[in-house]
Amino acid sequence: MANRIALVTGAGTGIGRATALRLAGEGLRVAVMDIRASSAEDVAAEIEGVDGQAMALAADVSDVVQVDRTVGVIRQHWGDVAVLVNNAGIVKTAAFPDVQLADWQQTLAVNLTGPMLCARAVVPGMKAAGWGRIINLSSRASLGKEERTCYSASKAGLIGVARTWALELGPLGITVNCVAPGPIETAMFAGNNPAYVHEREKIVRSVPMRRMGKPEDVAALIGFLASDGAGFISGQTIFIDGGLSVGASRSW
Ligand SMILES: NC(=O)c1ccc[n+]([C@@H]2O[C@H](COP(=O)([O-])OP(=O)(O)OC[C@H]3O[C@@H](n4cnc5c(N)ncnc54)[C@H](O)[C@@H]3O)[C@@H](O)[C@H]2O)c1
Repeated sequence: MANRIALVTGAGTGIGRATALRLAGEGLRVAVMDIRASSAEDVAAEIEGVDGQAMALAADVSDVVQVDRTVGVIRQHWGDVAVLVNNAGIVKTAAFPDVQLADWQQTLAVNLTGPMLCARAVVPGMKAAGWGRIINLSSRASLGKEERTCYSASKAGLIGVARTWALELGPLGITVNCVAPGPIETAMFAGNNPAYVHEREKIVRSVPMRRMGKPEDVAALIGFLASDGAGFISGQTIFIDGGLSVGASRSW
C-alpha cells in the first residue's frame, strides 16, 4: 500500500475523515477533498501531524470542471490516483409525494453524478497502472427507508454502477465495491434523523450489535477493500450496520 495515492471525497468530517486518517496510517498519500476548504485543510493537517502525507483540496464533486481540475492537481504533484473513495454525500428528507424536484436533482448530482465524475477522471491512471480500487459509499437506505426518496435512489444507483464498473474494469486490474453503512454516529446521521436525540436508545436496541457504528468501523472496511488482500472482491456491496439489514426493514 505504501506510497499509493488515495483520493477521498467529502473527507473533511465523519466517515471521510476517518477513512483519510486510516489510509494515511497505512502509508498511502491521501488527497483530502471536501467542498468545505477549511475542513479539508484541518484533516490534512491532522494527517501531517502524525507524519502522514496529505493534500487538502476544495472542490464540489458534482462539478465536472472542479473534479477534473482536482485530479489534475493530484497528478501534477504526486501522480495517478490508485484508490478512489466516493464518500461525499448529502441527504434531503421528505415524505413522498412531498419531494422537491430541486432536492431530487441536487441529491443525485452530489451522490451519484459526483462519484461517476470522480471515477471517470481517475480510471485512465488506474488503467495505465494495471491496478486500482474504487469504493462507493452506498447506504442501508438503498434497501428502503422512510422519507428518503432522493437519498435511497442515489445510494441504490451507486450499487448499480459499481456492479457495471466491476464488469468493465475488472480486466484492467481495478476492483469496484460499495460499502453500505448505517447507522453511523456522524453529524449527517444526527442532523437527518430528528428523533435521534430522543430515541438513541431505541435505535441502539434495533441494531443486533446493540450500538451505533463509528466512522472508524467503516474506515476499517474501506481500508481492507483498498488493500492488495481484497483483490478478488469486486462488484460487491457490504452492509456495515451491526446486522440491522439482516432483519426486516426497521424504522425508528
Ligand atoms: N452516517 C451514516 O449513518 C451514514 C449511513 C449510510 C451512508 N452514509 C454515507 O457515508 C458518506 C459519509 O457520511 P457522513 O455521515 O460522514 O456525512 P457528513 O455529512 O458527516 O460528511 C460528508 C462530507 O461531505 C462533504 N460534502 C458534501 N457535499 C459535497 C460536495 N458536493 N462535494 C464535496 N464534498 C461534499 C461535506 O462537506 C462533509 O465534509 C455519505 O455518502 C453518506 O451518505 C452515512
